[in-house]
Amino acid sequence: MSVQTQCLALKNTMNLHWSEFGEQLCRGSGISELMDDLGHAIAKGGDSICMLGGGQPAHIPEMDALWRKRFEEMGREPGKLEHAVGNYEPPSGNPAFRKALADLFNRQFGWNLGSENIGVTAGGQTAFFMLFNSLAGKFRDGSRKKILLPLVPEYIGYANQSVDGEMFRAVKPRFGNDRRARV
Ligand SMILES: Cc1ncc(COP(=O)(O)O)c(C=O)c1O
Repeated sequence: MSVQTQCLALKNTMNLHWSEFGEQLCRGSGISELMDDLGHAIAKGGDSICMLGGGQPAHIPEMDALWRKRFEEMGREPGKLEHAVGNYEPPSGNPAFRKALADLFNRQFGWNLGSENIGVTAGGQTAFFMLFNSLAGKFRDGSRKKILLPLVPEYIGYANQSVDGEMFRAVKPRFGNDRRARV
């Protein structure tokens, strides 16, 4: 069932009135149609369907083996699995996980991060939603800002991210002698 059909059914049965943001959600989006198609195909097709899309989740045999091992270990540790599936974590994410991730980045890239630099979200899409809408849109002084992307259209999931009108723009980069893009 498409987003539009679901919204219409909700509106009719519950006599709802959508806000502008609600209307925007109800218009649907390229990414929700794509993920709807893919999700249903995978749910129906089981092992006979190969997901060739990008992004995560993905099946990397070594990673799959690691997930399995860790989940099995957690299943044996009293209360561990129950904690993972039944408890809230702080809004920025599990403190031990954030510290471990900061340490990993520091080791790998020679950065100097602390847990305070790490925030866990339910996927990159959610992170970009917060980031884009925090940095662009309408400001308290009445000004507006947009996100400049080098290429538009970009990733299909970005298009509908704005809660407040047009958000992206692109300017064809010109390359000068110093090889820095001038826009
Ligand atoms: C460029 C880009 N941004 C965002 C996403 C969304 O990431 P997530 O599935 O973690 O929300 C993807 C997924 O493929 C992507 O390719």
